[in-house]
Amino acid sequence: MTGLVVTEAELLAEHDYAELQVVDGRRLHGGFLADGTYQPPRSKVRGPAIEAWSAALRARGGDLLDADASLLTGPRVPNLDQHRLLLANGHGQTFWNQLTTTGKIEARGRVLADLPVPDLAGVVVDDITDWAVGHLGRGLLAAHGLDEGGVAEEEIGGHDAMWFAARDLVFGPDAFDDVEPPERIGRPDPPDRQMPAVTEEIEGLVSFLMNLLIIEFRAEIGFAITQDVFRTPGLFPGREAQAEEAAEIIERIRIDERVHVDSLRLYLGELRSTRFHTVDGSTIAGDELIDPTWDDLVRWATVDQPVLLARQQTDAIEKRLRAHPESERLLAEFRSLNDHAPTL
Ligand SMILES: [Fe+2]
Ligand SMILES: [Fe+2]
Repeated sequence: MTGLVVTEAELLAEHDYAELQVVDGRRLHGGFLADGTYQPPRSKVRGPAIEAWSAALRARGGDLLDADASLLTGPRVPNLDQHRLLLANGHGQTFWNQLTTTGKIEARGRVLADLPVPDLAGVVVDDITDWAVGHLGRGLLAAHGLDEGGVAEEEIGGHDAMWFAARDLVFGPDAFDDVEPPERIGRPDPPDRQMPAVTEEIEGLVSFLMNLLIIEFRAEIGFAITQDVFRTPGLFPGREAQAEEAAEIIERIRIDERVHVDSLRLYLGELRSTRFHTVDGSTIAGDELIDPTWDDLVRWATVDQPVLLARQQTDAIEKRLRAHPESERLLAEFRSLNDHAPTL
């Protein structure tokens, strides 16, 4: 690492682990230092580099894009109490499905490793050679994608494999039929172009980073609920130790995801702090370009979309519960636990 210019090999470098992460004989990414602390994969140089780029951004008067707990609002189905109700009544399929689909969604993140990055250096006014966004296509997105989807050639599991490992510890791999993630719920009237001042390619990259930040940030809700489910006494009789190990695996995913959230806030903070050359030969401040689209996206992701997803989940779960011997009672109790019953 020379100053703030870092090579791709450095950004992919691993800590010197005293112990690798292995669950049930399967190698998963990351590992443990001699003091037992878990370290995310590819973070030996990437971690300090993100801190250094963040400090440099602040020294120039900028800051990371603001993202706080207000991004975590909106109804959730199933919420923690609903998961507990279903599992306590012998219905494991909904939780199993969620662990499976989450793992499959994580696997899709592998595409980041091969994502073509448009020429940002050519469209922003500042020299970004020693900024984080100057490294997006030179190791940062590659590291991020491999964190999500693992390194198949080396048989090292990423987040996808970690969710499946957690699931299999408590249920076994074939407890229920395999399941695919639900259809993506798109916005009913997605605006065509939100940043017409720049090319479609640049808008695509900036918008992609914003969407990814929202997804990564809000994933935290699911992580917290999942760990609480695993740690609820009595829900996994005879598999208490496995349920605790599953919760620990989710904790490691949470630690990894903090690197993703911090880095995405940094990329967007850097882009807000510079000026972009516009298609009509002028320039526009990054925050003017980014903030209106970000505000719009936040409203969609915290207000509109959670209600749509909650309805979709409710329908799917009600369908599954009809096969339960006490379906009426269970459905009534399930609905009474809704976060915002009247809106669903
Ligand atoms: Fe992930
Ligand atoms: Fe992530």
